[in-house]
Amino acid sequence: MQLCLYYPGLGYYSAGSQKLGHQGDFTTAPEISSLFSQTLARQLQDVSKQLDSFDLLEFGAGSGKMAIDILLQLEKDNALPLHYYIIEASAHLQSIQREVISNAIPHLEKKVSWLTSLPLQFSGIILANEVCDAMPFHRLHFENGKPSECYIEKGREGIQWTQHHLLNKELSSRSKTIHQINGGTDYYAEVNLIAEAWLTSLATSLDRGALFIIDYGHCRNSYYHPQRQQGTMMCYYQHQGHDNPLILPGLQDITSHIDFTALAETALASGLDVEGFQTQADFLLAGGITDLLQTNEKSESTFNNFQQKTALKRLTLPSEMGENFKVLTLTKNLPELLPRLQSADRRYSL
Ligand SMILES: C[S@@+](CC[C@H](N)C(=O)[O-])C[C@H]1O[C@@H](n2cnc3c(N)ncnc32)[C@H](O)[C@@H]1O
Repeated sequence: MQLCLYYPGLGYYSAGSQKLGHQGDFTTAPEISSLFSQTLARQLQDVSKQLDSFDLLEFGAGSGKMAIDILLQLEKDNALPLHYYIIEASAHLQSIQREVISNAIPHLEKKVSWLTSLPLQFSGIILANEVCDAMPFHRLHFENGKPSECYIEKGREGIQWTQHHLLNKELSSRSKTIHQINGGTDYYAEVNLIAEAWLTSLATSLDRGALFIIDYGHCRNSYYHPQRQQGTMMCYYQHQGHDNPLILPGLQDITSHIDFTALAETALASGLDVEGFQTQADFLLAGGITDLLQTNEKSESTFNNFQQKTALKRLTLPSEMGENFKVLTLTKNLPELLPRLQSADRRYSL
């Protein structure tokens, strides 16, 4: 997965094809409508009000659209950060972000810069929308309660699956928990240790502020539920979803859903507070997405208003992105609770 997605010049995210939007392979919430990032910008202000000054740090900024929409909304609300940092794994996407941001918001361009490592003693807000699902995961296969790890090997006819007993101690310990929940006789399950290590390093770097992780995923009991026999691994090519990562290497996206309980446990163990866990729909509604829609409606054409309403439905309906996507909000050293996170809070499920 690491090679297929990130190998310099050839990996899916490193190479030059269009990935996001109608012409690409998948569409993310910031690409669907600016309403998503405008609402997120409102949520960010509940944190920034509690800080003397703040920076924003976005991981995996894709096309750069979320950065542009957030900065424009914060400018409107007179709440701009000192800096908007981006850490982007793909050199190709980074060059697109530079160009798009420079063209769209030349007056704010100076605020944006790209980092190659985490800042020390960061005071501000860290954002990651659909980033953890793009981090390489371990895939386990359980047969009659016995776990093995799935690997890829070179066979006579190309690359193929193979299995080996567990060599990694952490995976052995996780496999016991997974089997207690699932208990099936033949099933697959993913464990994303890289996302947990990533979160631990963010917790060390964050001195004061908050971290918003937005992605598709579930709490642990649901993630390893017996009904999910094939795990959550998915590949995307030209908006077609399937479960075969061995075809189209470097040309298709490979992802897995997020175990939010694992991230919440990592957060607590690294000194962060788990401040909220909401569905994307509840997070956006609490952030005032319907008010923003009404405000935008006054200045838009009838056709644009229709498009915005359709986008609102895609972002919030349970059958679309509303339920599958969740927002995990983690904080450090904030004096006050974040009021909008109290609405439909699902931390009890983690
Ligand atoms: C599915 S895309 C999401 C893009 C964007 N956040 C959006 O919502 O449209 C995943 C992004 O995360 C980046 N990425 C994956 N792992 C990363 C890491 N460890 N650090 C920084 N960026 C990463 C990819 O290069 C890509 O830009």
